[in-house]
Amino acid sequence: MVMNYMGSKARLMPFVDALVLPHVRPGDVFGDLFAGTGSVAAHVVARRPGVRIIANDAEAYSARLCTGLLCCPRSPELSARLAALQSAARGGLPGEVATRWAPPRHRFFTLDNAARIDGALAGLRGWVASGEVPVDSPEHAYLLGVLMAACGRCVNACGMYSAYLKQWWPRALAPLDLRPLPLVCAGAGAGAAAAGAPPSTVLHGDACAAARAHVYDVVYLDPPFTRRQYGRCYWFLNWLADAARGDLGDIRDIGEAGETAGGVPTAYARSPWAGARPMCKNALAALVTALQGQVRRAVFFAYSSDGTLGEADIAEGLSPLGAVTQFVLPRRHLFRPHRGVDAGRARAAEEWLFRVDCQRGGGARPVAAGPTRVACTWDDLVR
Ligand SMILES: C[S@@+](CC[C@H](N)C(=O)[O-])C[C@H]1O[C@@H](n2cnc3c(N)ncnc32)[C@H](O)[C@@H]1O
Repeated sequence: MVMNYMGSKARLMPFVDALVLPHVRPGDVFGDLFAGTGSVAAHVVARRPGVRIIANDAEAYSARLCTGLLCCPRSPELSARLAALQSAARGGLPGEVATRWAPPRHRFFTLDNAARIDGALAGLRGWVASGEVPVDSPEHAYLLGVLMAACGRCVNACGMYSAYLKQWWPRALAPLDLRPLPLVCAGAGAGAAAAGAPPSTVLHGDACAAARAHVYDVVYLDPPFTRRQYGRCYWFLNWLADAARGDLGDIRDIGEAGETAGGVPTAYARSPWAGARPMCKNALAALVTALQGQVRRAVFFAYSSDGTLGEADIAEGLSPLGAVTQFVLPRRHLFRPHRGVDAGRARAAEEWLFRVDCQRGGGARPVAAGPTRVACTWDDLVR
């Protein structure tokens, strides 16, 4: 797992292996339109060299992270640059992060780690200014991704940035650890190059725009299922993405827009998928309209039984695209912040994966008689 992330599918790869991969063939265009940490896109390209990935997310930090993972080729220069980033962090001096999000003002990071983050940022900005690492290059995205993942390991919070803890967690006291990320860039390995793997593309925007921008063989949809807004939970990663560009104007804008007493910015992009049920139903209808005629083979839609939409909402919403089958798996893992608060509900929770068998070119189709519901167990999947 690249990063602890709300709704990450990193631990659900047996679901992807058993139910999604059999529908993906070499040469296909595979869309991961709510890519998050890129775990599904990276898994598919690693298991199916020769597949072209289009990853998309509404959050800028996710688009940068996915660009690093999916588009940055492994090279000796990259390893040297990562070593230089580690050295810049070790020699970091207190700057913007230390002033704003470390004691005495706030407790997101220890002063020592905040200075290390400032040092890494100064390194990245310096390489942008000297032209050594262009700001929109995959290498810049990769180094930024390394820094984002490291911040997630030492932030003094429950894995997200929506509030910090009063006491220091032991892991927040450990020094910032800039570890390499697993690279799956098409063409990065000899095998992939020989297979003529096409490059991946990463888009930043609403899933509807990404749906209209390409024709896909298979599309994987993993929208938010709770009312938590990703822009609020991971605002610090968006701040880092701006700061690493060296764009001080953007950095000041966050402060001017206001912040809570706990140091969390009050302005962030809101997703309709993390809204109330009518809003989610509208978001699903808009996405299904955008996907009409854009998918040749199959659409997969991942959701959870403790989400805002019910299974009937989803099955009915997806049905204009084709015949719907629903796979159901008992929930085994829980993202840390949900433990305790949601423990009672979580015991009975299920993971859902809807598959729509599409026929490209068709307009609206009549609603099918109802989805087929297939119960799965973890043993079925790993067999
Ligand atoms: C459940 S997470 C995806 C997790 C991802 N599959 C992973 O394993 O890391 C949902 C993602 O949808 C993104 N998102 C929310 N609204 C969106 C929209 N309208 N269009 C595209 N992405 C959106 C969020 O930023 C978040 O990264």
